[in-house]
Parts: sequence; structure tokens; C-alpha cells
Amino acid sequence: MQSAFAMQGVEGVHEISDPSVGLSGVVAIHSLRLGPAAGGCRMWRYADAGSLRRDAQRLAEGMSYKNALAGLPLGGGKAVLQRPEGDFDRARYFEAFGRAIEDLCGAYVTAEDVGTNVADMACVARATTFVAGLPTLGGQVGGDPSPWTARGVFLGLQASVERRLGRSLDDVAVAVQGLGNVGYALCALLHGAGARLVVADTCAEIARKAEAEFGAISVTPDRLLATPADVLAPCALGGVLDEASIAALQVKVVCGAANNQLATPEDGARLARKGVLYAPDYVVNAGGIINVAAEYLGWTPDEAARRIDAIPQRLAEVIETSERLGIATNAAADALACELIGGRQDESSTQDSALGAVVQ
Ligand code: NAI
Repeated sequence: MQSAFAMQGVEGVHEISDPSVGLSGVVAIHSLRLGPAAGGCRMWRYADAGSLRRDAQRLAEGMSYKNALAGLPLGGGKAVLQRPEGDFDRARYFEAFGRAIEDLCGAYVTAEDVGTNVADMACVARATTFVAGLPTLGGQVGGDPSPWTARGVFLGLQASVERRLGRSLDDVAVAVQGLGNVGYALCALLHGAGARLVVADTCAEIARKAEAEFGAISVTPDRLLATPADVLAPCALGGVLDEASIAALQVKVVCGAANNQLATPEDGARLARKGVLYAPDYVVNAGGIINVAAEYLGWTPDEAARRIDAIPQRLAEVIETSERLGIATNAAADALACELIGGRQDESSTQDSALGAVVQ
């Protein structure tokens, strides 16, 4: 692994392209202060190069905060690829992506994200060692990070319910938005702990499966955010909590896996004013990246589990900081992360407005 010093000058956005396989996208490296930049590879259809680039930068910055607060010796980065139209040769495509990662000499370590999977990462690994989330043999750390993300969210949700409602999970109803890799695994854990579930997914078939397996009540996606429940767990897309959706919320706790749940930092203060405890997304959804880090850095499964199980403790620190400073929980998380990264809090517009989002 290279030192942060050796990699100076690499922070920024790197274009990657291989027309022979239809590869086009960027690797955004936000911070190398704590170590090599780690964050998944997202493959999605973007309207234009500008929106792809902006998404990559925003996601890379989020990874810097997430990795710092999770106590990982890693900086923040993200690869974002324009999904080719129609059929394409995935194996050749991801091997070419691996070559582009190799060219960054270890400044960026990739893994799965939306639109990519364990098999894709195995193709990346043919061209570079700067990759994790690879297929595993029994007992090793690695593979799909989603179950670990779900575990961290579950633990954070349990702690939030105890703190805000003074109740245990067998006495609450949780509305889960999105039943994909993380959302469905979260439902299994919540069901096992006795929680009642209200669910929604744009895919009706998976919602019916949750009804059959967990006794969940399914509602249409447009109704989920305003459904009466104790907890909302956003596990689909980012940006779902805005002025209108917050006004309609009928829950006391928001705790879920989706990245960038708040449409703007001010929405964190809106939630607080409404009396809703918001568990910041990147604090509770760090289980997956902790598992990826453990694989890449060679930690044992026990060490990975210990760090994932510490998510409620980190969440408590964030909530106590927000109470002490009278700021929203998202602003408190950003402030703590900035302290760890060593950056000034006015270095980014996101943090500017987050720290301005005082609760009262
Ligand atoms: P996924 O793609 O497997 O699942 C997303 C699910 O949401 C799909 O079933 C989709 O049909 C559903 N969905 C989309 N729009 C919806 C809507 N409007 N209403 C209801 N359902 C909707 O994704 P995955 O891996 O489960 O991730 C979920 C979220 O968690 C994403 O935002 C991701 O960035 C975030 N995340 C995932 C991690 C992981 O380890 N997989 C790690 C950290 C964050």
C-alpha cells in the first residue's frame, strides 16, 4: 500500500475510457489523508457526462466521511461508469476497468456498488489487485458486502429505537423502502427480532415475497414515505427526504441504508425540528465498506465483525455531539468526520450548509 504522501496530486477526477469494450466513466478521489481512497464502482445510465462526474464527486466525498467515521485507514473515492446501451461483454468490460484502476497505482481501491456485482469484481481482479468484494471460500472475509451493510443498519436502527422510543424491536413497526440486496436482508433481521414490517418496492414480486416470508404488509411505493410506523428505513434511492416528504412523515426514527438520503443538508434540521431522530446514512450503512476494508487489509472475520458491531457506539457519539452543539445529527456526523480527515469544515459547500443547519 502506498503512503498518502506518495499519492499526493492524485486527488481529483480521473477520466477512464476504453472504446473497444464500451468503457467510459470516471474515478473520483476525494481524500487520501487517511489512506488509499476506497469506495465502490457504480454503473448507471446518466443523462450526460456532467451529471456522471458530479455524482462521482459527491459519492467520493461521502466515502471520505464514511470511511473516516468508521475508523478505517482509508480515504474516499468512487468509480462511476456510464452503463453501455444494449448488450455488452461484461467480462472484457470489467477487465478493462481493472486496467484503469491499476494505472492509478493503488490510490483507489474498488468494490461493488449499484449496478455491479461479485462476478464483475472477479473480472476486475484479472487486471489489478486494488479490488475487494471478491468471491470467497468459506470462513474468509469478502464477497457481497450487502449482508454486512444490512447488519450495521439493523444495529443502528435497534439503538435508535431504544434511544428515541425507549422500546425494543418486538414492539415497533418499521417501514422499509426498497427490498434489494440490503433492504431484504434488513427485513429478515428485523423480522427475526419481532418487528412488524411495512414494505414497498417498485418490483411487486419482491414485495409479495416479503409478505409471504416476513408477514410484511406491502404498500405501493408512492405511499411508503407517508405510512404510519415507528421507523422509516430508506433502502432504495438517495434524496428521498425533502421538505415535502418530511412534512408527510409519520415516524419518529429514520434509519436506513440508502446513501445521501437527505435531499439537502437542511433537511436534517427539518427532521430534528419535527422530532424525528435521523441516524445519518453513512454512519449506519458502513458495514459493507468495513467488510471490504477487512478483505483488502487482511483483517480476520472477528475483527470485521467487531468493527461492524461498533456502529451503534459511533452513532451514539454522533447523537451526543448533535445534542451538545444543538445541531442536526447529519451536521454532527459531518463535523466529526471532518475532524478525523483533518480538513477544514468550510472546504466543501456540503459541509458549509450542513453545519449551518442548526436545529433551533
Ligand atoms: P439494490 O439495487 O439491490 O436494491 C434497491 C431496491 O430498491 C430494488 O429492489 C429496487 O426495485 C427498489 N426501488 C427502487 N426505487 C424504489 C422506490 N421508489 N420505492 C421502493 N423501492 C424502490 O441496492 P442495494 O445494494 O440493496 O442498496 C440499497 C441502497 O443502499 C442504495 O442506495 C445503496 O447505494 C445503499 N448502500 C448499499 C450498500 C451495499 O452494501 N449494497 C452499502 C452502502 C449503501
